[in-house]
Amino acid sequence: MSEKRVLLVIGGGIAAYKSLELIRLLAKANVRARAILTTAGAQFVTPLSVGALSGDKVYQDLFDLTAEAEMGHIELSRSADLVVVAPATADLMAKAANGLANDLASTTLLATDKKVLMAPAMNVRMWEHSATRRNFARLQADGVHFVGPDQGDMACGEYGYGRLAEPEAIRDAILALLSDGPLKGKRALVTAGPTIEAIDPVRFLSNRSSGKQGYAIAAALAELGAEVTLVSGPTNLAAPAGVKRVSVESADQMLRACEKSLPVDVAICVAAVADWRPALTASEKIKKGKNSAPAIALAENPDILATLSKPGKKRPKLVIGFAAETNDVEANARAKIAKKGCDWIVANDVSGDVMGGDENEVLLIRRDGAEAWPRTSKAEVAKRIAAAVTKELGGKARERK
Ligand code: C5P
Repeated sequence: MSEKRVLLVIGGGIAAYKSLELIRLLAKANVRARAILTTAGAQFVTPLSVGALSGDKVYQDLFDLTAEAEMGHIELSRSADLVVVAPATADLMAKAANGLANDLASTTLLATDKKVLMAPAMNVRMWEHSATRRNFARLQADGVHFVGPDQGDMACGEYGYGRLAEPEAIRDAILALLSDGPLKGKRALVTAGPTIEAIDPVRFLSNRSSGKQGYAIAAALAELGAEVTLVSGPTNLAAPAGVKRVSVESADQMLRACEKSLPVDVAICVAAVADWRPALTASEKIKKGKNSAPAIALAENPDILATLSKPGKKRPKLVIGFAAETNDVEANARAKIAKKGCDWIVANDVSGDVMGGDENEVLLIRRDGAEAWPRTSKAEVAKRIAAAVTKELGGKARERK
């Protein structure tokens, strides 16, 4: 990779010392880091150590006339290939989520036209606070990428989510976002996870999908340089590095989020969309009846794969569906290509332990042929699918054997 540049915003937290290691790891990977050190950040690491490692001036003050004369803050925000915030404190996230711009770091985040990657670090209660949850969701919807936070022991003596991701993981996320991979310039949509369909405010219909295969595919496409939107039902998984995740619950919401993400070059529908939803969602919790259990009338959900496959200006060049079958896998999958109008089906036999597990055994079925892949990890299946997509879209990656 030719030399790339990141603008690294170092927020104020005990984890700030890890940003020094990050600068060193980036230098080894031929990525130059220019740093903005917030006032709070400077309480934890000194401008001297940051500058010595980055080999550059350290920017600290929005109103520093000399710094402004050398490089205006707007130019600073656009001079890098990527803006990275590590550690991203609750305060920096809150400012960025709300568009506040009252210091150099927040002004830079508002003025940049580059991708932004945040590596949050804070106390577990701050991370779990509803305000931070809101800010996190809003930043994700704005297209900000995230790596971490990790779970573990914290400097404050507590345990939970809030630890800064390890510098190696942050470096990998940065490299993925800077990647000039064969899918650079291509846009991808992936659906993943289950949908949940409300019966009343506390009950729902859903299924056992873990989201693992869809998340792995989103990650593999991003690693090859694609701009990926992952529309996900509720899962326990972290959004893969470099992927924009849109969280939804119902099939209706999933369809709307997918349509909003168009146009894309490839759409891969991995989500286990509930086939039906309660025809009516009660606005209050349904009370236990004295005599009989209530009957739930069902209505059919929209078919997202079939909708995306419909011919038209916005149809992705390549639409791929999944088929979970328990018998006659290939025949049923072929019938599904015809019924849904998609181009390929990745079919798997779910009669065993595939759902929720880490391995998968699939058949890739195109209109004009089928390939059986040996049982392997979901990550490897994802890489093979990403390589096949690359070949189909005219990218340079060689298909994996
Ligand atoms: O019809 P069936 O559920 O077996 O089809 C599976 C494929 O269709 C998967 O790719 C799944 O993501 C997609 N699908 C969908 N919307 C639905 C049902 C299935 O996108 N309502």
